[in-house]
Amino acid sequence: MSDERRLAAGYAKHVFFCTNQRADGRRSCGGCGAGEAFEHARRQLAGLRAQGVRVDASGCLGQCEHGPVLVIYPESRWFGYRDVAEAETILRRHVLDVD
Ligand code: FES
Repeated sequence: MSDERRLAAGYAKHVFFCTNQRADGRRSCGGCGAGEAFEHARRQLAGLRAQGVRVDASGCLGQCEHGPVLVIYPESRWFGYRDVAEAETILRRHVLDVD
């Protein structure tokens, strides 16, 4: 018998916003508006009552030069965005399948 445990979470989409903020002045998503975009996305999805979609903040995703960045699973689609509006457009197109 396996010790493996499976969780019942089963999100249809899981979005991670890097919100890492560096204190040493190097470029980081948190220094480029990622926190605002993350909070906006959470409000947007809650308002739409998106079922099976979860949005989380993450630490550095290793794509700092393209930041701020987000990634959508299970497709593993990566995006850089310039501002809140562009992040919203990405979510509408690639998470909610609306334009
Ligand atoms: S700080 Fe966001 S990917 Fe590194």
